[in-house]
Formats: sequence, structure tokens, C-alpha cells
Amino acid sequence: MKDLFEKIRANRGPIGMHAKESHGYFTFPKLEGDVSPRMIFRGKERLNWSLNNYLGLANHPEVRKADADAAAQFGLAVPMGARMMSGNSDQHEQLERELSEFVHKPDTILCNFGYQAMVSAIDCLVDRHDVIVYDAESHACILDGVRLHMGKRYVFKHNDIADCEKQLERATKLAETSGGSILVITEGVFGMRGDQGKLKEIVALKKKFNFRLFVDDAHGIGTMGAKGGGTGEEQNCQDGIDIYFGTFAKSFALIGGFISSETQIVEYLRYNMRSQIFAKSLPMPIVVGALKRLELMRNHPEYKANLWKITHALQDGLKKAGFEIGVTNSPVTPVFMNGSIPEATNLIYDLRENFNIFCSMVVYPVVPKGMIILRIIPTAIHSMEDVAYTIECFSKIVGKLKSGQYMAEKIASF
Ligand SMILES: Cc1ncc(COP(=O)(O)O)c(C=O)c1O
Repeated sequence: MKDLFEKIRANRGPIGMHAKESHGYFTFPKLEGDVSPRMIFRGKERLNWSLNNYLGLANHPEVRKADADAAAQFGLAVPMGARMMSGNSDQHEQLERELSEFVHKPDTILCNFGYQAMVSAIDCLVDRHDVIVYDAESHACILDGVRLHMGKRYVFKHNDIADCEKQLERATKLAETSGGSILVITEGVFGMRGDQGKLKEIVALKKKFNFRLFVDDAHGIGTMGAKGGGTGEEQNCQDGIDIYFGTFAKSFALIGGFISSETQIVEYLRYNMRSQIFAKSLPMPIVVGALKRLELMRNHPEYKANLWKITHALQDGLKKAGFEIGVTNSPVTPVFMNGSIPEATNLIYDLRENFNIFCSMVVYPVVPKGMIILRIIPTAIHSMEDVAYTIECFSKIVGKLKSGQYMAEKIASF
């Protein structure tokens, strides 16, 4: 029999196997200084396109003050338990009420982490008689929630409504014999390609099929919809979304998340969702900080307007310069290139060291072999100059990539 540690040492996982060469640079890089488009990476200021700070709230003076004041007033320890046992407060309940209003749902439950909220909510909502139908490119938290499901699941091709319908037909047959129900799960905005989930079309399928729709809108909350209420608001179908998830980790520039739905469903989650009843609730400064961010989002539509101004300039400029950015219709901007992994690492190294631009790179095994994605996340506080400079630099690096320069030289040595 193999020793467990020996087995792990021999296979450290698809990304972990490259840790020795990548740690501290391509993986686990340290970005220092205030959260802004200019941050320090390895001692030097870089133009940063890799922040979960869509509306620029992370370092907003009012946010910093609210966070600091709440930490001074309450400390980081309170409340001292799970919501159900000893971890409730007026502020938690106030935030739930305000979030409900923001996303146009009757009730909301706060969750201590976005990822585990999704996993745990899926686990909690369905039993072994029920059938899950979900999008093939769903985020890991959806996939992990589905993995916990004891009943059947059907996956539909990414954003393919005809296939979704086909899987709903199969699910309906099965649920009719098992006596179960159907839960469809998808995303508001897919974080890798930036395309919106076809929520309106899925909602329309309710005319033909009996199911409930659960939408993970991690990237849509604050960025989409006339008032920032998310992708359902954007597509004018929020009413058809039965269960709505938002994280605090992106537009809110915080940590935690929430799930909104009708009152009885939220109450069911409050009393049954294992990640919330068996874990400590969100610390008070996070809750008070979230209230401040929500107030700013509601009262300053110009933050979202700026985000979109930068997004449009960036995406139009990249397209005009001949770049392939796929099907994004959100701020998430993937730039697709072709090359090997060594070429990709050389390119990123060149971009960071010689052009002082920091963005994320996605390569195999996350995307097919030979594909490189540079993922740009614009924010409300980037400038038009940042956009112009980035497109200019990208044109230079793609020229080098096409002429094979990143293949010939071993640039990346850090
Ligand atoms: C689509 C999606 N769902 C869920 C999460 C997890 O949220 P959190 O970071 O709040 O745990 C993320 C990433 O942050 C995400 O992109």
C-alpha cells in the first residue's frame, strides 16, 4: 500500500506540479501598496489589471474610514458564533434587508464565504430525488455543490439553450419517476470568457418545463443592470431568477456573500444551510463595511458608468487593434492568443518586467493546449491613458509572439 504523503509528493496536481518554477511570480505573486491601478510587484510599480475591484471601492476614503471605524468600535472577533446560535446582530439583519432591496428579492441570507455559500446552498436545496441541470462552464463552487448532490445531474453545453432544453426534457422524465424537482444552475457573468449567461432564455423555458433557477452572479452584482442590481436586472428577468447569489469579493471589494430569494426559501436556508449553521458568521466590520459599500453603489452611479466607459474603450480598442476577445459582454476582458506554455511565461515576464503591466494569464489545463488567455479586469478607477498604453504594449508583445521571439529566447528567469 502506498503512503498517502508519498502519493501526494509524486503528484502535486496540474498547477502545483509547476510550483517550483512559478511560485512567487506566476503563482502566488505579491501585489503591494494601496489597492489601485498602480501597485508594486517585486519592488516596482506596475499597471495592474488583475484586481477584483470593479467599482474602485477598495481604497475609497469613505470605505477605508468605515472599515477602520468599525474595526475600532467592534474589533474583529464579534459576533462570536454562528448566526443561529450567538452570531446575529442588527447590522447583519440591516444588511440583509438592504441587499434584498438592491437585488429586488423579498429576503436575503448573508454567507461567510461566497464559494462555500454556493456549495452549501446547492447541497441544502436539493435531495436525492431531485435533478440538477447546470451549465458546463460553471465556476468550481457550482461544480463542487453539484458533486455533493446525491441525485442525478445533467450538464448542458455552455450557454447552449437548445442543449439546456434537451437536458431539461431528460431531467423532467427522471423527476417525474423519482418524485423529485428540478434545479437549473448557471452564472450571470462567466468569469473566464466574460459572456453573460442566457438568463432570459432560460427563464423563458419555464413556460415549457417546471424548474427553479439558481444564478451565481459573482461578477454581475454591482457591474450589470441599470442600478447595479445584477445580470437579471440587466436582462430584465430578475423575477424569473428564483435564487440569486452575489459575492462581496468583487464589486464590493470585501469578503463574504449572500443569497436572495423569496422569504420562505431564505428562511429554509437560514435553518438548514450547513456552511452557515455550523460556522461563525461574518465579523461586524465586514458587515458594517458592506453597508457603506452598498450605500456608495446606490448613490454613485458614476462608478459603474466609469467602469463601463473603461470597459468599452478597452474592448473596442483591442478589437480595432486586431485582438480576439471572444464573446464577452461584461467588463471581464479575455485576450486570446496562441502559443505554448513556455511562450506564455516568456510573454508574461516580458509584459511585467519590460512594459510594467500586470495581468493574469490562463493556460492549459484551464484552457485547451496551445491557447493563451491574458485576462484583463478593468475597474472604474483605470484611466483612458491606461487603456491606450496597454493596447500599445499588447500589440508589441503579440508581434513578438507571432515572430517566435518568445520561443527562441529564455526570457523568464526570476
Ligand atoms: C462565479 C463565481 N462564483 C463564486 C465565487 C466565489 O466567491 P468568493 O470569492 O466570495 O468565495 C467566485 C470567485 O470569487 C466566482 O467567480
